[in-house]
Formats: sequence, structure tokens, C-alpha cells
Amino acid sequence: MIIKPLIRSNMCINAHPQGCAAEVKHQIEYIEKKFAERSALGKQSKDAPKTVLVLGCSTGYGLASRITAAFGYKAVTIGVSFEKEGSDGDGDSSREKTGTPGWYNNMAFDKYAKEAGLEAVTYNGDAFSHEMRKNVIDTLKKMDRKVDLLVYSVASSVRVDPDNGTIYRSVLKPVGKVFSGATIDCLSGRISTISANPATEEEIANTVKVMGGEDWAIWIHQLKEAGVLAEGVKTVAYSYIGPKLSHAIYRDGTIGSAKKHLEATARDLNSELKNDLNGEAYVSVNKGLVTRSSAVIPIIPMYISILFKVMKELGNHEGCIEQMERLFTERLYTGSAVPTDSENLIRIDDYELDPKVQAEVDKRMATVTQENLSEIGDLEGYRHDFLATNGFDVDGVDYEADVKTLTSI
Ligand SMILES: NC(=O)c1ccc[n+]([C@@H]2O[C@H](COP(=O)([O-])OP(=O)(O)OC[C@H]3O[C@@H](n4cnc5c(N)ncnc54)[C@H](O)[C@@H]3O)[C@@H](O)[C@H]2O)c1
Repeated sequence: MIIKPLIRSNMCINAHPQGCAAEVKHQIEYIEKKFAERSALGKQSKDAPKTVLVLGCSTGYGLASRITAAFGYKAVTIGVSFEKEGSDGDGDSSREKTGTPGWYNNMAFDKYAKEAGLEAVTYNGDAFSHEMRKNVIDTLKKMDRKVDLLVYSVASSVRVDPDNGTIYRSVLKPVGKVFSGATIDCLSGRISTISANPATEEEIANTVKVMGGEDWAIWIHQLKEAGVLAEGVKTVAYSYIGPKLSHAIYRDGTIGSAKKHLEATARDLNSELKNDLNGEAYVSVNKGLVTRSSAVIPIIPMYISILFKVMKELGNHEGCIEQMERLFTERLYTGSAVPTDSENLIRIDDYELDPKVQAEVDKRMATVTQENLSEIGDLEGYRHDFLATNGFDVDGVDYEADVKTLTSI
């Protein structure tokens, strides 16, 4: 069959198996090239992760972290993510369904890791469950390995409490008042205005339950109790701060509340790990990128498309893999102390929040119209990234070729 992107309300609801695999391959090639360059310049650090657990390993920042650890440092990786597999419908074409992009990404990661002789174990299941923690602990014990880096990159809209089964749902809403902002239709580039109503107290608390630091801390505690965290272990989770114009919907909204909880959890875990294992815990503040969820947040698609254009003009634009390569090689594993700001946050959103970049973005945001958007914003780049996260519009993929099965790459 021929697979074309199916887009509903700015969400792409299918994926291209070979396109996803090609995207993974491109990221691997980027890391191999960067590490080879470092090595040729004698710049590689002696400090390196050896056994890496990535929670949320299948897409976005988690996938890029895992690729950097495996293909850059040759680390053994264990990945956990929650993805839907594809189905050929058992001969009934009405039941044919592509898997989620992460399903194919994991398959591609496993295949390329095996070809490169890298040890990797991938779990598909609920990272919030105690059962998954037990699986990972048992695997580590069987491998006779201890985790020296735990990356927490789970992004979810729902969490089932592992102790009592309560279901919590996260929402992306402002706090206190309605937020309205322009958005862009990913395919047509048409600008419209969308609004989000303020969250209730319960919605704020539920979002913190899902996207705050509670689950991360449970992972660290259970792995530590099981004796599978290495001396000197590092752990990092990801956050976003972004520009002032998005604060009402993001940083000061429900997700921001969860991120502040995550950041406070990092500070607690840092003291605890320092005491027990001479370990360290951080939140890294990353750059805003096009992802499956960011396309439906008011103002963000418009901001990102203008930001990308400005950063591309200045030559400092990055995607997930470039960000993670910089996080690992210039922040986490330099052989010296991890550089942080006064809140113990690692900042790799430095290029995005550079005053020169932000001043130019502000200027363009103030004058943007439907007519000049494609000139002052990177509509093409935005559209490409949006499609590529689902395996479409990827270089080197023949989208007219027959896809024989939806169950593998
Ligand atoms: N995308 C951005 O612009 C951006 C910017 C800065 C920081 N961040 C942060 O980075 C982190 C990752 O975001 P992303 O954009 O890479 O997300 P993503 O949606 O691409 O990836 C989320 C991952 O979580 C996994 N996951 C979801 N529910 C799960 C569950 N119950 N059990 C196991 N795995 C589960 C998914 O399978 C996937 O691997 C988040 O904390 C996010 O806030 C994102």
C-alpha cells in the first residue's frame, strides 16, 4: 500500500514505517559523524555513560538521548516507551492500521544497534507502573549492570497511579485567565486564533501528577533500593521555559506547574543521590521543537516557525539530535562539573533564549501577517519537521513505493 499522511486538527494520525526508520538512521549518522570529529580532534571525554536507562525512549528528546548514548558512547541502553504497534488487519483491509511513529523508531533503533554490535533492550509498556520498574530491575540484574545515567523523557497526557489505580489526566491550559493566540495550520500555513480556558485547581494538580517529578523519583528510589544504580550515577529530566510571550500558556500554565515540580524534584534527588551514591540529578531546559503535541498549543507553532527562520539565518538552529549531542558532550560528560544556572538547571535553550534571537523573533511576531508569514517565518521547515516526526517528507524515502506490511520496518 501507499501511505500518505493523515492529518486531523493539526495532528498527524498515521506513520510511515520506512520514513521513521530513515529518520532514526539520519540521527545515528549525525551522532557518529560528530563523535568521529571529536575523536579526530582528540576532544573526546574520558567521562562517559556505560549503562543508560531512557524512560520515554521512542521519540523526540528521549530517542535522541538514547541514540547519543548508544551510538556516540557505545553505552548499553535500556529503553522504555508506550507505543501502539501496527496491524495488517489479518487480511481485512478496513482493520489495517499503522503503528505510532515511536513503534517504528524503536524497531529501527533495535535493528541498527544490533548491526553495530550494541547491547540494547527495549520495553513497550507503561513506565508509570511498578511492573515495568520490576522488569527493568530484573533485566539489569540479569545483565549484571548498574545504571550510570537515567534519562527521564516521558511525556504523557495520562498516568495511572501505580498504588491505587487512580487515573490522572494532564491538560495544557493557562492558570487564572483565558489565553488566546495565533496558530498555524501545519499544512496550509493558514493563520487562525485559538483560545484555551483557564484550568481548575483539580486540573492543575492532575497535570502535576502526570508531568511533575513524582514518577521520576519513584524510579530512582526503586532502582536505588534494588541496588542497580551505579556509584556516581547521573539522572536528567527535560523541561521547557521558552519566551515571555508563551509564559501565560506554558511556563505559568498547568504544564509549567508540573515542570516546576519536576525541577524541585531534581533538587531533592540531587541532594539524596549526592549523599548515597555520590550521584547527581538535573533538569535540562531544552529548546522548543515541533512535536506531536506542540502543534496544538496556541502561539507555539507561530513562534516556532519564526524562531526557526531566525536561528537558521544566524546558523544556530538545532533539532532534537543536535540538542542532545550538545547536552551530553558539553554539559553532562565533559570531565568537569556539570554547568548549571543558579536553580541547578542545565541550559541548552541558550541559543533559543539568546537576546539577539529573541529580539528578532519579537520584531517579527509583532508584524506577522498571512501574507508575510512564509517570508519572515520558516513555514517550510515547520511543515517538514511536523511531517518527519511521523516518518513523512524524509530524505531518501520513496513514498510511492509499496509498503508491504505495517508490522515492521
Ligand atoms: N518538544 C519540545 O519542544 C520540548 C522542549 C523542551 C522540553 N521538552 C520536554 O522533553 C520531554 C520529552 O518531550 P518530547 O517532546 O520528546 O516528547 P515525545 O512525545 O516525543 O516523547 C514522549 C515519550 O514518552 C513516552 N511515553 C508516554 N507515555 C508513556 C508511558 N505511560 N510509559 C512509557 N513511556 C511513555 C512515549 O512513548 C515517548 O517515548 C518532556 O518532558 C517535554 O516536556 C520538550
